[in-house]
Amino acid sequence: MEYKIQNIAMTINCSFILLILLALLPSCSHALSIKEATVHDIQTAFKQNKLSSRQLVEFYLEQIQQLNPVLRGVIEVNPNALYESDKADRERATAKAPGWLHGIPILVKDTFATKDKLNTTAGSFALLGSVVPRDAGVVAKLRNAGAIILGKASLSEWSNYRSVGAPQGWSARGGQGKNPYVLSATPCGSSSGSAISVAANMVAVSLGTQTNGSILCPASFNAVVGISPTVGLTSRAGVIPVSPRQDTVGPICRTVSDAVFVLDAIAGFDYNDPKATRKASKYIPPGGYAQFLKVDGLKGKRLGIIREPFFSFVDEAVLPVFEHHFQTLRQRGAILVDHLEIANIEVILNSSSSGEATALQAELKLSLNAYLKDLVASLVRSLADVIAFNQKFSDLERTEELGQAFFLAAEATNGIGDAEKKALQNLARLNQDGLEKVMTENRLDAIVTAGPGVSTVLAIGGFPGISVPAAYDSDGVPVGICFGGLKGSEPKLIEIAYGFEQATKIRKPPSFQP
Ligand SMILES: *[C@@H]1O[C@H](CO)[C@@H](O)[C@H](O)[C@H]1NC(C)=O
Ligand SMILES: *[C@@H]1O[C@H](CO)[C@@H](O)[C@H](O)[C@H]1NC(C)=O
Ligand SMILES: *[C@@H]1O[C@H](CO)[C@@H](O)[C@H](O)[C@H]1NC(C)=O
Repeated sequence: MEYKIQNIAMTINCSFILLILLALLPSCSHALSIKEATVHDIQTAFKQNKLSSRQLVEFYLEQIQQLNPVLRGVIEVNPNALYESDKADRERATAKAPGWLHGIPILVKDTFATKDKLNTTAGSFALLGSVVPRDAGVVAKLRNAGAIILGKASLSEWSNYRSVGAPQGWSARGGQGKNPYVLSATPCGSSSGSAISVAANMVAVSLGTQTNGSILCPASFNAVVGISPTVGLTSRAGVIPVSPRQDTVGPICRTVSDAVFVLDAIAGFDYNDPKATRKASKYIPPGGYAQFLKVDGLKGKRLGIIREPFFSFVDEAVLPVFEHHFQTLRQRGAILVDHLEIANIEVILNSSSSGEATALQAELKLSLNAYLKDLVASLVRSLADVIAFNQKFSDLERTEELGQAFFLAAEATNGIGDAEKKALQNLARLNQDGLEKVMTENRLDAIVTAGPGVSTVLAIGGFPGISVPAAYDSDGVPVGICFGGLKGSEPKLIEIAYGFEQATKIRKPPSFQP
């Protein structure tokens, strides 16, 4: 066994401090507390008959009831969750070898179609009541693995692509998601609810999506682990899209091993997203990803530290912590190549100059129109309909205040024309001269940096990344360490991330500071 087996602590929990801070409940709860339990802990408790899936779901439902009125990480709870947990408990009694996710409750971002009682709305009232044709590809894989869809996580509405200036973690349906460490701090987005909910123990594991940092950023800000896989490693079918070229689906969890178990359940070919998932399936190692959870995973790894400009994006107070982490990485056998730079980084980080904005606008219109057309029933059937809805229900959608500039710019596009082709060529060149070059010239296994700032570099190339809890700034807001690499480098990234996590164990549960 590579990981520590812990006995699950089931205690009667009276979270007095929490209750005083949040002023949520008149009396303390007597729920079975499974706070911070990992998938491994839970499966061990299942096997020893110390815990049932029903008790686990009941625990998380109570956590949601207590915490969600303030944190707003959850938009909807699955009314069938308890029924499904009973089913999982019955199945486990007879199953030969239930997988890691069997009986485990998972929250999925409100962009994943679920063919059940839950709505799929990207946080917008425009999609409330819409009927999806089928489960998203990854949701079907989760159900096959025996996972229980506990509900839908809140998000930055439309994954932050209605108007770029809208508040992170806000949606018309979900309200304002809160960072559970410091309630006044940003939870970042757009997969904010997924990160908030696992951070605050409102669910065991969660799923997010990323177009341009939407997994790595909330993971960093909520002291949880986020994996944004190589584009196409996980299916995007049935996921409310932004760009098939950049969209990726990945886990957000409290530990690297939890995230890897989820990744193993969702990675692979899907005939509803055939081109990308076929192309990326060559990266999936026989036997999956859990074999790379090695405590000595850092040994011999060449890591390139990218300081500029990302170190200037994080609180100065955490920089000594990162220096200490680099020392730890060396002690665990990694070879660090310091002060590397990504060429044209200023251009890459400016979506107007890189071509990213031009490409995403056209891609959003094409892919969102296709998603909406495919719905069985819906008030809105096109991006133009959504724009009109936002105009008409400006009070509900705060349209006057927040605008919908990105949607309007997208609606004004007309497919992939000359301007878009030029933008795509420019992005390809930036990838080649940027991440690809620094990786190959320095024979790196991964790059490493502080905070989620590097996520755009990864996103425009469809490259994978992992964020692991690394520090808390002077206000108590978490900061992640981010590892990134070339396409298909998940095995190495997992070894590095797990090695780092096991050597440091920085994550602590949130304290709900105002
Ligand atoms: C989905 O939305 C409808 C309103 O259209 C609501 O009545 C229903 O309760 C929602 N489903 C869930 C599971 O919350
Ligand atoms: C981003 O690039 C555009 C176009 O090249 C330029 O007009 C704009 O000033 C840049 N923005 C920033 C913040 O540098
Ligand atoms: C992508 O994220 C970066 C921040 O890392 C931001 O500067 C850029 O504007 C974003 N691109 C788009 C199209 O929103």
